[in-house]
Amino acid sequence: MRTQVGIIGAGPSGLLLSQLLHLQGIDSVVLERRSADYVLGRIRAGVLEQGMVDMLRAAGCSERMDREGLVHDGFEICFGENRQRIDLKKHTGTSVMVYGQTELTKDLMDAREAAGAAVVYEAEDVQILDLDTDTPRLIYQKDGTEHEVVCDYIAGCDGFHGISRRAMPESVLKEHERVYPFGWLGILSETKPVADELIYVNHWRGFALCSMRSMTRSRYYIQCAFDENLEEWTDDRFWDELRVRLPGEAAESIEMGPSIEKSIAPLRSFVAEPMRHGRLFLAGDAAHIVPPTGAKGLNLAASDIYFLSNALTGFYADGRTDLMDSYSEKCLNRIWKAERFSWWMTTVLHRFPEQNSFDRGIQLAELEYLTTSEPAQASFAENYVGLPFE
Ligand code: APR
Ligand code: PHB
Repeated sequence: MRTQVGIIGAGPSGLLLSQLLHLQGIDSVVLERRSADYVLGRIRAGVLEQGMVDMLRAAGCSERMDREGLVHDGFEICFGENRQRIDLKKHTGTSVMVYGQTELTKDLMDAREAAGAAVVYEAEDVQILDLDTDTPRLIYQKDGTEHEVVCDYIAGCDGFHGISRRAMPESVLKEHERVYPFGWLGILSETKPVADELIYVNHWRGFALCSMRSMTRSRYYIQCAFDENLEEWTDDRFWDELRVRLPGEAAESIEMGPSIEKSIAPLRSFVAEPMRHGRLFLAGDAAHIVPPTGAKGLNLAASDIYFLSNALTGFYADGRTDLMDSYSEKCLNRIWKAERFSWWMTTVLHRFPEQNSFDRGIQLAELEYLTTSEPAQASFAENYVGLPFE
């Protein structure tokens, strides 16, 4: 098989890139090692920056999001007896869209299928060959047969555990990482959200977050030990711990119910540089990871794909190579600012096992300053809604 762009991974990054290239008349093949149902079964992010919303609209995949998504103009931060709303709309003129990653991935899958796209699910043992030639190849196993895709370029959209980053020469690749000493225990339940907007909580027992997927489907998280045993967390134990950490009114009014999904996610900050080597481009989680506190993971994939789709379009339409040459630097400039913001939110809102009274005093001072200073809230808001794609 021959294509212009070989894409590894059918998560949001790979599918969005494939759809945007298609609209520019650029051919791609997407190789995904899991089944479509497995990809959709992963419960991930839920808050879209305006940049991602705009990308989905440009990709012609926004009809359901615009119908079912929830536009949020702000959210609350709670600590001790303090509850402060951060007014995103007032400080930035923009909002965020609450719409599950599962839903937007389904919308992208449906668009690719409607276009008759070559998205190969359950493509096993994908390998990148001849990367240092003008015709790099992808080979994979499917139904007991080896298949080959000869490409002009390869987009590594295969997430943190994928193969693309490992195809970068060790002499070239630099990795930067911070692993946090806790995780997030999250549940999904068919219950009415406790509030109309998100609630982030810094409690002395640990972080908590009240989110949602719709006005009938709630998403809650509590900070837990990174090596917590999920089987020891019954629904009742989760609800009890969540209610201890919530402000009194919310704890009293929250609607509880059976979990339809329950999982523990580790928290990590990670950046791989550069994001291009010859004809290989890394995008999304393949190149970077943020702790979910700032809701940046999915939205960083959007800006990577914005820069990459423009670079590939510039090449095929006008023979330009400058956008390819600047791809990595442009992505990383925005990625590091999102890494900083996500690290800061995580540091301020979580209970660190080793933190002493001075550390706790600094956390409370950070939160007190944020919740009482308009300029501080304006700076926080512009980071939360997403810095420009520039
Ligand atoms: N071969 C083929 N496919 C692979 C391989 C491989 N060797 N390794 C991983 N994949 C697939 C995974 O099965 C997954 O479907 O690549 C896809 C990567 O998707 P994501 O991990 O969702 O990464 P990305 O598309 O960049 O989206 C980032 O997803 O993980 C969340 O929090 C993250 O919200 C962010 C978003
Ligand atoms: C979610 O709804 O899953 C969510 C929302 C906001 C975050 C993290 C996760 O910061």
